[in-house]
Amino acid sequence: MTILVTGGAGFIGANFVLDWLKAGGEPIVNLDKLTYAGNLESLASLKGNNSHVFMRGDIGDANLVESLLKQHKPRAIINFAAESHVDRSIHAPEDFIQTNVVGTFRLLDAARHYFAALSDADKAAFRFLHVSTDEVYGSLELNDPAFTETKRYEPNSPYSASKAASDHLVRAYHHTYHLPVVTTNCSNNYGPYQFPEKLIPLIIHNALAGKPLPIYGDGQQIRDWLYVGDHCTAIKAVLERGKLGEVYNIGGNNERANLDTVKTLCAILDQEKPRTDGKKYAAQMTFVKDRPGHDRRYAIDPTKILKEVGWRPAETPESGFAKTVKWYLDNDAWVKNVTSGDYRNWVAKQYA
Ligand code: NAD
Ligand code: TYD
Repeated sequence: MTILVTGGAGFIGANFVLDWLKAGGEPIVNLDKLTYAGNLESLASLKGNNSHVFMRGDIGDANLVESLLKQHKPRAIINFAAESHVDRSIHAPEDFIQTNVVGTFRLLDAARHYFAALSDADKAAFRFLHVSTDEVYGSLELNDPAFTETKRYEPNSPYSASKAASDHLVRAYHHTYHLPVVTTNCSNNYGPYQFPEKLIPLIIHNALAGKPLPIYGDGQQIRDWLYVGDHCTAIKAVLERGKLGEVYNIGGNNERANLDTVKTLCAILDQEKPRTDGKKYAAQMTFVKDRPGHDRRYAIDPTKILKEVGWRPAETPESGFAKTVKWYLDNDAWVKNVTSGDYRNWVAKQYA
């Protein structure tokens, strides 16, 4: 038995692959297009490990996906592959439609044909797990209740709209074709191997490089941060115990305003690697122009996954942030590798 993971060279996918194989899970076939966000260095520790088969390719390539399914006969597909950065979706939305909507559709359709030809026993075991985001629910006001799974979809960015479309396709493939799907909608992740275009690794990277720490608008936007390892245990739990056709919200009970998040990271860095001039890292904080259509607040109500699946996060915000800062301090080579090339062009364009 194998499982097919898509997007397994990205931030969450790579963490999932590493954690899964470390825990003795079945072999993984990893299909990843290796966009700017995909990085095989994150999987370097798996070199020579026969339980990890990497295939460079696009989830939208129907022939490739069909042949992978035929060859490896996975008992599950876990779909992490996506364009995932809101700011990039504002600059160039087309890629988001291609991968998140068309790509997910092609993957689903290949899965449908593969599933139809399975034996009854293999059909009963098969799962298509779609990894999605809380951003599909839109933006909350300060006193609104946190997102439950029945919250109306109100996506506001090209990224969240494309993920919303993919969620609807997944739902439709269950209702129309009885494909055994489960969908997870998770809050903002942080942790090892996150590309430093997203807030937390960008702040750590810029702080250490002596660069400004850009805070969009007034910095009072709230995100509900979850350590990536906890997201991975949640996905595994939903794969094992989630009900078919159901949606599970995943969150860390860790709502914070961006300004507080940045200050917390600066304080950890002040302890771990003080600036040589005696000043505090917070002195590098710089307010910059706000993101267009910037969602004010995301918050997850994790009651359903707790009750039905029995999952809860293991990491506290304090332990998770500290661990993450330490990882970036200890993995300078990884950061150096991903911050060459395309990264420089992106930073020049976004923060001009
Ligand atoms: P990421 O951008 O770090 O990685 C995405 C990976 O997908 C990359 O390795 C990339 O090469 C690959 N990819 C892109 N297009 C592809 C295609 N057409 N075919 C095959 N591979 C392709 O993203 P991430 O942060 O690891 O997010 C993974 C998933 O989790 C996404 O679906 C995202 O929407 C979702 N999610 C992310 C967060 C978060 O905070 N990062 C939170 C909730 C949900
Ligand atoms: P990000 O990590 O891009 O995730 P998302 O937009 O999916 O929530 O951003 C997290 C928050 O941090 C979001 O409110 C935007 C803000 N932000 C900044 O203030 N400055 C930055 O340089 C970046 C990248 C994000």
